[in-house]
Amino acid sequence: MTMRILVINGPNLNTLGTREPAVYGSTTLAQIVDMLHKRGEELEAGIEAFQSNHEGALIDFIQQRAAQADGIIINPGALTHYSIALRDALAGVSIPAIEVHLSNIYAREGFRHQSMIAPIARGHIVGVGWRGYLLALEVLVELIHEAHAKEKL
Ligand code: DQA
Repeated sequence: MTMRILVINGPNLNTLGTREPAVYGSTTLAQIVDMLHKRGEELEAGIEAFQSNHEGALIDFIQQRAAQADGIIINPGALTHYSIALRDALAGVSIPAIEVHLSNIYAREGFRHQSMIAPIARGHIVGVGWRGYLLALEVLVELIHEAHAKEKL
């Protein structure tokens, strides 16, 4: 079975590589997506990546694509901390989402300590840079296999 994973990145993540490299690392989003495609091939998981600086565009993408997908990896950027609309969009679809942050949001400014997304996410990986996306892919694929195996019982 080939599964489909949506990889969604929010505002400013298109500038990874040059944006505050001391905080976010020097790997670009294109490089991260490339790594996900490669690992996805090994795990028989197709990757559909989307980035937008606009809250509504992210919500439209979730509404339009989630029905054809098995899981979501999402780094909502700053929207993490205040977007109830994005949280509602994720809560409104039936597939699991893993929230990823390159930086350790809990070791940073107080306003980054709260995530609107975490309570409705299946899991949450922070502070390990680009590796977090690959970990999220590994774990999501396992969780989806597990869920499908249970459905067959
Ligand atoms: C981020 C953390 C957010 O607080 C910030 O606004 C980002 C990136 C991260 O990946 O560490 O844009 O989501």
